[in-house]
Amino acid sequence: MTKKISNFAEYFQKYQESVNDPEGFWGEIAEDYQWHKKWDKVLEWSFTGPKAPDVNWFINGKLNITENIFERHLPERKDQIALVWEPNDPKEDVVNYTYGELYEKVCQFANALKGLGIKKGDRVAIYLPMVPELTIAMLACARIGAIHSIVFAGFSANSLSDRIIDAECNLVITSDGGYRGAKSISLKSIVDDALKSCPTVKHTVVLKRTGDDINFVEGRDIWWDDFIAGVDTKNEAEVMDAEDTLFVLYTSGSTGKPKGVLHTTAGYMIFAEYTFKNVFQYNDGDIYWCTADIGWVTGHTYIVYGPLLAGATSVMFEGVPTWPDAGRFWEIVNKHKVNQFYTAPTAIRALIVHGNEFVTKHDLSSLKVLGTVGEPINEEAWRWYHDVVGKGNCPIVDTWWQTETGGILITPLAGITPTKPSFATLPLPGVQPLLVDNEGNELKGNSVEGNLCIKFPWPGMIRTTYGDHDRCYQTYFSTYKGLYFTGDGAKRDEEGYYRIMGRVDDVINVSGHRLGTAEIEDAINQHPKVNESAVIGYPHEIKGQGIYAYVTCEALSADEADSIENDIRATVNKIIGPIAKPDKIQIVSGLPKTRSGKIMRRILRKIGEGDATNLGDISTLLDPGVVDEIVTGAKVEVKR
Ligand code: WT7
Repeated sequence: MTKKISNFAEYFQKYQESVNDPEGFWGEIAEDYQWHKKWDKVLEWSFTGPKAPDVNWFINGKLNITENIFERHLPERKDQIALVWEPNDPKEDVVNYTYGELYEKVCQFANALKGLGIKKGDRVAIYLPMVPELTIAMLACARIGAIHSIVFAGFSANSLSDRIIDAECNLVITSDGGYRGAKSISLKSIVDDALKSCPTVKHTVVLKRTGDDINFVEGRDIWWDDFIAGVDTKNEAEVMDAEDTLFVLYTSGSTGKPKGVLHTTAGYMIFAEYTFKNVFQYNDGDIYWCTADIGWVTGHTYIVYGPLLAGATSVMFEGVPTWPDAGRFWEIVNKHKVNQFYTAPTAIRALIVHGNEFVTKHDLSSLKVLGTVGEPINEEAWRWYHDVVGKGNCPIVDTWWQTETGGILITPLAGITPTKPSFATLPLPGVQPLLVDNEGNELKGNSVEGNLCIKFPWPGMIRTTYGDHDRCYQTYFSTYKGLYFTGDGAKRDEEGYYRIMGRVDDVINVSGHRLGTAEIEDAINQHPKVNESAVIGYPHEIKGQGIYAYVTCEALSADEADSIENDIRATVNKIIGPIAKPDKIQIVSGLPKTRSGKIMRRILRKIGEGDATNLGDISTLLDPGVVDEIVTGAKVEVKR
């Protein structure tokens, strides 16, 4: 077994090794896995050639990722708990799965999938709440080589069908409903709605979770329990090529519809486990908890694949941080004696508001490491997390990464890298970041700020966008030739530490969830009374960024004018889902545009930030008058 990095000097040494000899570095780590056949060459790649991006790790290696979770660990860990499931309602029982039990469940479900005719390469959509069956379903797909496409169960029917259609899924795995705090959501009816426009889907498997009545479609729908009844719990894993697809996960960008970010088998596997063990400094016997939803990449890599590949005990939580009260996270930490805790800045900020007592009344002495991910963490939230939750004893790992990166790229190593509030600090071994100016010139040295790029492949990186390789190239590899462009701006300070400043493209980050402004505008524009809209992010105390929509409408009656804001929110809710509902909507008579018709978002952003004093040159606008109107009617206090 490759040893974890255990001190700062060793980090620098490993980092150098990984840059000087990437193939030697990753090749040695890859020796720890079960392979049906070892690779011929560790890496071949091009970010610029005709097939770019063309990235191949562990060429001709053959393996199955689930054998590396189960068969590799079972001799030692059969009776160790793999998954601890904490239900939404604290009165309901916890469910634990040992490695041995989870293995049988995964194999059984894998056999059932095969029985339905699902085979290697088929796409399976999974639309489930945070129940253990979600983990079972995804691993069962990986077992047989089917490609899982997990869709966060907060997305609308329309978003779900877009994703199903794009990936041409032939099966959907869902449940009657799901619980989130005091609410329950009828997932099956959303699936029914989505499937009206998805001809490729032949079946749905439906888990009973809430017991709500569903519309059961004979011939298409199958209850989960019937699906697995009597099915064998032994399964021989499909032998996959290192570069065979493991999963797709849809994410938003600055243009067009969400794209299916595609990850492959061996590189993702090795990167998930390596980053998990080193960043969190997980030790055998520790209890690790990541509060994300498996519908996002954080859940994929740091609830399921990373921890289970490492033979860890991973906690999975169905509920929300504020129900039954704002102490729920800390009650769970105490109940399961959690050692490593990984959450998002938005959750921290939401809990700060409720006061310290919800934290201090629980015994949190088991905690060793605290992690954050998803968006920049402000200094106040960092300090509260450090002082109140961690009692000053737990290092905070501020982990920067993306759906496309598969795993963490820039982060402290817990207890090893000296931290600074709101700095993601240093790149992990194997990760070669650089900053460039808008012309693509590298900004060398320290104390510089620019666009964050990566110049060398790492094993967990995106390989393509599903069904449209050129889109992958255009989105990530064409802005700065020869580099992967992250879409983020960053500073490198006088010590060489990275601080992520946020997106530099038309992507906003709401509560750690990525949304394209164009996508929200498209949804708003579907309201019959809307002519045009422009969406920007503005600073929001809890969500990090809030959604601010400037909208022009057709003539409205008095009644319509009263209800238009709510109607627009309902439209967005229906088309994308509740996470994309604008926080502020301002109906305006016109949008600030250049003479060529381009919306000047820079101006709208300034106004949204409450800083209308310095709007820059507005004389080139088609109609400078609209700016005054917008400033006067702005939904924030505007300093002039
Ligand atoms: C975007 C990626 C990676 C899992 C969750 C989000 C922002 C992520 C940090 C951090 C500052 C961060 C970036 C990035 N982001 N982590 N520690 N500090 N910003 O995944 O939806 O793919 O979003 O989240 O802007 O580009 P995602």
